[in-house]
Amino acid sequence: MKGLVLAGGKGTRLYPLTNVVSKQLLPIYDKPMIYYSLSVLMLAGIKDILIISTPRDLPQYETLLQDGSKWGISISFAEQCEPGGLAQAFTIGAEFIGTEQVCLILGDNIFYGQSLKTSLRAAAKNPGGATIFGYRVKNPERYGIVKFDQNGAPEKILEKPDTAPSNVAVTGLYFYDNDVVEIARTIQPSARGELEITSVNNAYLERGDLRVEMMMRGSAWLDTGTHASLLQASLFVQIIEERQGIKVACPEEIAWQMGYISIEKLHALGADLMDSEYGAYLMALQAD
Ligand code: DAU
Repeated sequence: MKGLVLAGGKGTRLYPLTNVVSKQLLPIYDKPMIYYSLSVLMLAGIKDILIISTPRDLPQYETLLQDGSKWGISISFAEQCEPGGLAQAFTIGAEFIGTEQVCLILGDNIFYGQSLKTSLRAAAKNPGGATIFGYRVKNPERYGIVKFDQNGAPEKILEKPDTAPSNVAVTGLYFYDNDVVEIARTIQPSARGELEITSVNNAYLERGDLRVEMMMRGSAWLDTGTHASLLQASLFVQIIEERQGIKVACPEEIAWQMGYISIEKLHALGADLMDSEYGAYLMALQAD
């Protein structure tokens, strides 16, 4: 399975923070935002990842992440010249995806929770169709929302409806079979001129091939779309990390736990960042 991280867009809702910096490079407490989505893909067992961003920002991602080999994975890069919609990720990434299944994650989405790894592994193992994740939110009008029929089965996904038919938002994490590339080529732009991921999901729903997995109460899907939610996400991560003494979404640690890099390599990565608390954390990690 291939992985796509969509890390483009103009970030206008966060101006002036994003006037010269990509939104997905902004800090979430102690690490760049994109580390959180990359960690999710790594926990799902995905090792071949394409980062899609703007021509302005892509060089910075390349400098930060290089080819991924330091984490035992492969990272490549592709430009999205204009933000034409989330579903464009599949046409931009068509060659990279080849004949494989694919997982798309939005580079500004943050997930945390006990059962996350199990849910990710299960979705990645599904051979056909699509799996998306639903999360209960208080403000459904800001998201793609699942409309359920009388039996509780998903009936339609609505993109930012004025009147939401439920409180179940579609998160920015999507697993698809290889048909997604063709589906993305055939959908039409929405009224706001974008190739919507919601149109892709509805295409799968219409053929009876869409699973909506609910993320449970104990799990967190954090918003980074406003100045306030950005700060709240940082505080959430800080509270967990300080309380437990473990890091949330630390790609180096995940690479070691997944067996992609040795403990020696992990400590060498820590030594490179030695002046920081992050580097000291990596150097102190030991097998139990
Ligand atoms: O976060 C989950 C939500 O993401 C879903 O519930 C919605 O169904 C889905 O449409 C999307 O809604 P957003 O309003 O959050 O989408 P937005 O346009 O803000 O784009 C999400 C991220 O993707 C953002 O960080 C910018 C990036 N992006 C966006 C577009 C349209 C790109 O890299 N390229 C693009 O063309």
